[in-house]
Formats: sequence, structure tokens, C-alpha cells
Amino acid sequence: MSVTPSRFSGLFEMHGKKLLFLTKNLIAGTQFGEQLISAQGTEYRVIDPTRSKLGAALMKGISQLGVKPGDVALYLGASYGYTPSFVSDLLGETGFVFCIDSAPRSTRDLVFLCEQRSNMAPVLADAFHPEAYASRVSGADFVYQDIAQRNQAEIFLKNCDLFLKPGGFAVLVVKARSIDVTKKPGVIFQQVRRQLGEHIAVVDYRVLDPFEKDHCLLVCKKKI
Ligand SMILES: C[S@@+](CC[C@H](N)C(=O)[O-])C[C@H]1O[C@@H](n2cnc3c(N)ncnc32)[C@H](O)[C@@H]1O
Repeated sequence: MSVTPSRFSGLFEMHGKKLLFLTKNLIAGTQFGEQLISAQGTEYRVIDPTRSKLGAALMKGISQLGVKPGDVALYLGASYGYTPSFVSDLLGETGFVFCIDSAPRSTRDLVFLCEQRSNMAPVLADAFHPEAYASRVSGADFVYQDIAQRNQAEIFLKNCDLFLKPGGFAVLVVKARSIDVTKKPGVIFQQVRRQLGEHIAVVDYRVLDPFEKDHCLLVCKKKI
């Protein structure tokens, strides 16, 4: 079995019993509890779709993400860095990812990861107040948000407004139950889709079940 480039720049795939998505390990020999695979003299990291909503969206056949090697990315809700570490691999040495999280505990773990990976920087901040970190974050080619808050769509739009470059892509992970537990997830997903559509073009959308229950992921593109 061989590792081959996927249709997404910077992402690879392997077809065996199961389809796997992988990134080239930016710091060979380091690992985050994920499976490592060596092929053709290169070390790859396997994205677990049950731990990463990005991985889940890939398994659900997302058609585009809009992120590529060399991009500057803004990651909102970085936690201790599992999915951000794959974004860091994908961006490569010429790219950079600013990782925002409001929890001191996870940001502490994130700091250790960023010490290993020179294309990542941790920022302890509330993403609802992007003006507080505007002086530390540059314009972004790509925004990724995974924040389980009632106002997650508003947080996303504020950050895209402030940091996303025209023509740039942005991904929003929606956790329906954080918005309204009384409504069916499908109703919430359509509501968020309409809300985003008033400001930014929604270019793809995937429900993440069975990998992540009651979650969906939307890919957006900012108008030029
Ligand atoms: C589901 S976890 C993210 C997991 C991560 N995206 C991954 O795949 O590895 C959500 C994170 O959002 C953070 N968060 C929640 N509200 C936030 C806010 N207003 N600003 C920044 N981070 C926030 C939480 O501290 C938590 O670490």
C-alpha cells in the first residue's frame, strides 16, 4: 500500500481496508498519540476522524477546504492542538498558524506543541473579542473555527471580517447542541448556513455523523 497525494494540496491518502488521510510530519519523530506511517522514506501522520472534525469532514467527502501549503491560518478553538498540528503539517515550513483558545489549561499544553513546531503560535484570548489580539495576528488566507458556544456563528463572522483576506477560505465547525438543545440539529445547521450566507459564500457543507454526533462543517469563501 502506498501513500499518494490527495485532491487537497498538502494532504495525502492511503487506500487499504480503510481510507486514511495523512499529513507529512513536519517534525519527524514527534507524535501526538496518532498513528505514524513511513512510506517512500517519508514519515506521515494519520488524521483520526473520531478526534478531528477536519478528519471527519474528509471522510464525509468534503469537496474543498481552500487551505494550501504556505498559507497563513487563524485557528479559533485550538484546544491543546490536535487538529492544529495537522494544519501546521499541511501549511509546511513556509506557512504559519495562529492558534487562539480561551482556556489557560489547554493553552499551556499548546505552548509546548508550539515550541516544537516553529510555524505555530499560541494566543490565549477570547475569540469573541478579536480586536484584543488584532495587533498579534496578521491577515489570514484561511480561518478554521471549532468553538462550542451559543454565538459560534457570530464569533466566526467577526474574525472573518477582521482577518480573512478577500478570496480567502474559512471553515466553521457547528455543534448544534451548543446553539439550541431543543431544536433538531438539521434545523440549526440550516439556520447557521442562512446566517453565514448573508455575509460570506458557503461553498460546501457536510454533516459529520457518525464521526461527530450533531456536528456539521461548512466551508466558506470571502468575496473578492
Ligand atoms: C472542541 S474544542 C477544539 C478542539 C480542536 N479544534 C481540535 O480539533 O483539536 C473547543 C475549544 O474551544 C475553546 N473555546 C471555547 N470558547 C472559546 C472562545 N470564546 N474563544 C476561544 N476559544 C474558545 C475551548 O477552550 C476548547 O479548547
